Amino acid sequence: MPRSVPVVRTALALAVLLPLALTGCDGGVHGTPGGYGLHDPYFPRAGDGGYDVAHYGLTLAYDPARHLLTGTAVITARATQDLSAFDLDLKGLQVRSVDVAGEGAAFQRAGQELTVRPHHDLDRGETFRTTVRYAGAPETLTDPDGSKEGWLRTADGALALGEPVGSMAWFPGDDHPSDKAAYDIAVTVPKDLQAVSNGELASTATAAGRTTYRWHEAEPMASYLATVAIGRFTVSRSTLKGGLPLYTAVDPTQAAASRAALAELPGILDWEQRVFGPYPFSSAGAIVDRPKDAGYALETQTRPVFPGAPDTRTLVHELAHQWYGDSVTPATWQDMWLNEGFATYAEWLWDEDHGGPTAQQTFDRLYDDASADDPVWSFPPGRPSDAAHISDRPVYARGAMVLHKIRQTVGDVAFLGILRGWAAAHRHGNASTAQFTAYVEQQAPGDDFGAIWRDWLYGDGRPAHP
Ligand code: TRP
Ligand code: ZN
Repeated sequence: MPRSVPVVRTALALAVLLPLALTGCDGGVHGTPGGYGLHDPYFPRAGDGGYDVAHYGLTLAYDPARHLLTGTAVITARATQDLSAFDLDLKGLQVRSVDVAGEGAAFQRAGQELTVRPHHDLDRGETFRTTVRYAGAPETLTDPDGSKEGWLRTADGALALGEPVGSMAWFPGDDHPSDKAAYDIAVTVPKDLQAVSNGELASTATAAGRTTYRWHEAEPMASYLATVAIGRFTVSRSTLKGGLPLYTAVDPTQAAASRAALAELPGILDWEQRVFGPYPFSSAGAIVDRPKDAGYALETQTRPVFPGAPDTRTLVHELAHQWYGDSVTPATWQDMWLNEGFATYAEWLWDEDHGGPTAQQTFDRLYDDASADDPVWSFPPGRPSDAAHISDRPVYARGAMVLHKIRQTVGDVAFLGILRGWAAAHRHGNASTAQFTAYVEQQAPGDDFGAIWRDWLYGDGRPAHP
């Protein structure tokens, strides 16, 4: 990304802040405004580098009949630099008030940036609490690739999907995968409806014709993996052999068609634990819903979303993301193949272990069937061409091919050690492609991966040798 971009952006942000600074009432300004985007190479406006969120407490109410969302977000964060102001991402909705550390704060909106100027500057290292009260008609956003995310309507409610930058449609936050946090999400809905989210259901309470569902996600979660599903659901609860609680919520129109695949969920989780290592979260499950504008599944944390009855393969894929994507989360959106290449390779391994083609056969068929002008070779998985292409085939299929090349090089036993070891080494954290290549090299010091990185991970076009 050209260096001039963040410079221009900071200048704009300062201009926006100027009126606030003039009306601000404290002396002794020592902080500087936060990062105005963490400078993700693909989504430069997402997030703010000036603070690190530890916890989101979201108290939401939604009435589908009025399409009105009312929210209070209590964001507990630590300043990573002295701050005179900082940015939250929020798209649409009206902000009623912002408090920082219990005092009213000035705020300003420009595009997706909600710029907050606290009454008192924040010191580097200080933990501070920001409360944002907001309301309005939440929006369905359009991704750079044209697909829909954010707040999606369903026949009987709504569904929130956030990859890559859709969480800002329903709560203010640091909307970048590098800032993971714990969440408590309470959703109040008309009492004939239900609300499902990430983690465990802590309580439900009905009063005055409305029911509040309180969900708790203790393990770090990237904002793009947060979800809320509101509507009527057939809920089923059970416990896996090791004690892991399962909670599945299925749109009643999809219940019959979903039954067979969802019955496989325990078996898939069991197989994935044997291959990838211990399941990284405190609960699991699935949400099957019918969003009006989106037809893709998403690996929302602990409880992936399916846009209609899933098949086994899609379940295997989204559950594999719980290790690769949700627990080990990309450092930036450039590292997307660390999600999709791994989840795709999980499908290949599943086939291999369940009477289907071996991963080698899948690899060979892909390579042989895709001539030099096939879209699978249109860019290297380690460097997608732009934000509109981070979910294209090179990221998925060619990403999986990179993993298979590693397997060919190190052998099956060492390869499975790498898959498990990578999940363990960055459990509940973030990791980049450079960290992955370094990790592989460190695990197999006798092998040379130079040609794999050069031709398969970062090279243009169809690599010469399969
Ligand atoms: N991550 C999803 C999956 O493959 C696919 C997806 C949904 C996606 N929305 C996206 C990928 C936005 C990139 C960007 O399981
Ligand atoms: Zn995926």
